[in-house]
Amino acid sequence: MLVPILCTFRAKLGALGKTCCKMRTIIFYCRRLTPLSTPRLYSPDFHSSSTDEKELKVDIIAEVSGSHLEGIKKRGFYLDDIYQHVKGDGVKDLKIVEDGKHLQITWEDGHVSRFYSMWLRHNCHCGVCLPHTSTVLVNFSKIDENIKVTSAKMDGDNVIVIGWTGETGEEKYHEGPLLTKFLRYHCYSDAADKQRREQRAMRFYDDKTIPELEYKDVISSDEALYKWLLALSERGICLIKNVPSEKEHVLKAAERIAPVQHTIYGNTFEVETSPDPIPENAAHTRIGLDLHMDQIHYESPPGLQLLHCVKFDECIQGGENFFVDMHEVAQKFKEEEPELFYTLTRIPSTANTVDYKRARPAHVRIQRPLITINHKDEIVSVLWQPMLIAPLQVPEKDVEAFYKAYGKFYSLVHTYKSMYVHRLRPGDMISFNNRRISHGRRAYTDNGHRLLQGCYINASEFQSKVQMFHNKYGGGKWPVRNGAIDWQ
Ligand code: OGA
Ligand code: ZN
Ligand code: ZN
Repeated sequence: MLVPILCTFRAKLGALGKTCCKMRTIIFYCRRLTPLSTPRLYSPDFHSSSTDEKELKVDIIAEVSGSHLEGIKKRGFYLDDIYQHVKGDGVKDLKIVEDGKHLQITWEDGHVSRFYSMWLRHNCHCGVCLPHTSTVLVNFSKIDENIKVTSAKMDGDNVIVIGWTGETGEEKYHEGPLLTKFLRYHCYSDAADKQRREQRAMRFYDDKTIPELEYKDVISSDEALYKWLLALSERGICLIKNVPSEKEHVLKAAERIAPVQHTIYGNTFEVETSPDPIPENAAHTRIGLDLHMDQIHYESPPGLQLLHCVKFDECIQGGENFFVDMHEVAQKFKEEEPELFYTLTRIPSTANTVDYKRARPAHVRIQRPLITINHKDEIVSVLWQPMLIAPLQVPEKDVEAFYKAYGKFYSLVHTYKSMYVHRLRPGDMISFNNRRISHGRRAYTDNGHRLLQGCYINASEFQSKVQMFHNKYGGGKWPVRNGAIDWQ
């Protein structure tokens, strides 16, 4: 049970606001007898040199009874949605190895995890290190960098209580609980890492038929919504059929996943041939559009793109859309032209939209490599929008190398045979992962009306929804990489 004990310091409101802003909250926890520890007063005492916090009035919360597990649950760190899927977290053997540098756990299924002493200390689940605020309050400046695990005992079946000792540094001893499910879930052994990476790997399919779902199902049932998320996550593309041919339904569909991502084009945008002699954007002409991803000049280019076909007269010739998986192309490029591939991961290119005359003037610009690899040499991001490329601004020695690599990659993209092709009909809504799949449009004739309404969803919001649905309906698996820079 938690008993708040009020501790009054002289209060000054201005100082409080300032202090909160800088996260200088001092929380004193007085932990009383738990099965394994004696009463103790903890003080993280952050930034104690500052005078601001002396003016604070704060509540002291004491966890006065109950097990470590109860305390962790009360503070909201027992994550049922995730831990329900963690199996094999029964501990068979606990061993402190290498003179306390690692804690080795042998699990009931025979798997062995080894956790570094500081990794464990950083993840201590006690009320001081991990209070209610979902904030990790571990003060590294007070901890000996060679801290050792000096004790490790089970507290029931679900918690290991660890003691750490440091010779230098202010913190000589600390003791705290860690959940076994947390440890098994976050195990970083090679075997666990391999399993996660296999789940996260993009797979490429020779069959380029586009998965289809019905709008009414996606709108009304979570089962259909999960099918949509799966198609977007695993294939990167999905066609939603029989959307009413009126505007705003694209928003309704998007909001099943997440609120839309605003850009300089607003919350939604329209693609329609403009009567303006100089439309602001090639999309508003009838010319063909080269393969591209939208809005790559943003620091966080949209994750998903939804394009709803409101009108597309039968008499119009052309206007079909085509889609290429850029991660598939980049993978091929890496295998066939490794040197040129690494050039594109090293030398940055610039993308921009500069337009002071448009309704919402914009000068958005970013410089970064077109392809990003992680510390394991895996491709984690590919950005492709040749129509938004700005002048290259890199050291002279890199200019020639960049163009050799860019030209070769451009040719590979444009001759890539494996693509999805689809002519939208009114009532179709094509949805795709804008960080994985590039899209283009064939030129079309001027004898009719074609109108698309589109919107975007942020890549992190997409990933979050997929993970939550995997936890609810998919056995807790990890989402396939979504093309946003994500090292794991
Ligand atoms: C765009 C676009 C597709 C189309 O406007 O960026 O890709 O079919 N439009 O018009
Ligand atoms: Zn702690
Ligand atoms: Zn586009």
